[in-house]
Amino acid sequence: MSTITITDTVLPAPSSSSKIGKVPVVKVDKFELSEEEDERTFHNTDAAYVLPNDNIEHQRLELQHRLLRQIMGNKVFHAPLSKDAVHKTLDIGCGTGAVTHEMASTFPDAHVFGVDLSPVPQVRQKLPNIDYVQRNIMDIADESFENDFFDLVFSRLLVLGMSNWKAYVERCVSLTRPGGWVEMHDFSNAVHHVPAHVSSLEHLRPHSITIPEIANSSHPTDAYQHPSAWLWDTIFGKLLALKDVDIYCGSKIPSLFAEAGLTDIRIRRYMVPYSRWEGLTREEKEMANYLETFMRDLIPVAIRKAGENAGPEYAKDVEEALKDAKRYYEAFEGGRNFLWMYVVCGRKPE
Ligand SMILES: C[S@@+](CC[C@H](N)C(=O)[O-])C[C@H]1O[C@@H](n2cnc3c(N)ncnc32)[C@H](O)[C@@H]1O
Repeated sequence: MSTITITDTVLPAPSSSSKIGKVPVVKVDKFELSEEEDERTFHNTDAAYVLPNDNIEHQRLELQHRLLRQIMGNKVFHAPLSKDAVHKTLDIGCGTGAVTHEMASTFPDAHVFGVDLSPVPQVRQKLPNIDYVQRNIMDIADESFENDFFDLVFSRLLVLGMSNWKAYVERCVSLTRPGGWVEMHDFSNAVHHVPAHVSSLEHLRPHSITIPEIANSSHPTDAYQHPSAWLWDTIFGKLLALKDVDIYCGSKIPSLFAEAGLTDIRIRRYMVPYSRWEGLTREEKEMANYLETFMRDLIPVAIRKAGENAGPEYAKDVEEALKDAKRYYEAFEGGRNFLWMYVVCGRKPE
């Protein structure tokens, strides 16, 4: 029997006082999960997504939303959209609807759709301009959404589930109206390590970057790529790749946008630290604290699910990855390690 304790958690009950324009923040400060997670639940589709869809996961997503918003200067959307010109928007893989809610508040005149593999939980009152649809967005035969329809197509954190990013980006471009924007926020799982001799964190602050800079690895922080790959990460990446899931998708999204015909591509990168170290901002420290305490429990869940998706012949790999992941978190404590979160916007030509 799995014991899961969540402390200091405030999930607001749905209330009629929640209004468009107000973004409720769900405060979740601490999670304590046991090592057993056999009671966790998952989507029931054949999609490759490996994270659970239960109450614990919903609370993690709410916390993560708050922390990501903070490190992005208290904003989510980066595309240069004028409020009045936005009438239809889509949040793909909307999870608990945190971004969907923010979309509906930011664009109060828009009809906002959130789509997910699993039902969206009721952690906040659904604003009247939101409709949730339970679908796999890659189910092309499904006609819930028309092509050339949305002013904004958005997604965040599909890194552990979207197969075939090229097809996914093309799908998003098809759904966007000419002149509309596609915006994606995702990780590239390449671990970076800030060497001990580096004292200024200037290059790690949020910055814009271009496709050639990414392709040529010419940014100063490219020298910080972690020299050694961890066994668990390599195995996890391999298991996911069997289902065409790419844990490095974040850095590839900009060129996929260009290949899919999007123009005016804007790329911003945010440093997401894995552990607390001297020089981090308060917001970064909060994020690091969350990752330190939470990922330790979630990574084994994801490894097991990726192994289950891959098939019984990978049971040994799963075992090895689980062992190594434990070692990894012990070794990571206090390290100056981080990942890049890519925020990429592109406009569909008129
Ligand atoms: C890590 S969660 C992120 C949720 C939300 N975007 C956020 O940032 O808080 C990823 C979500 O994407 C959904 N998802 C994954 N693959 C999907 C697909 N093919 N179609 C629709 N939703 C998908 C999952 O069910 C999950 O709720």
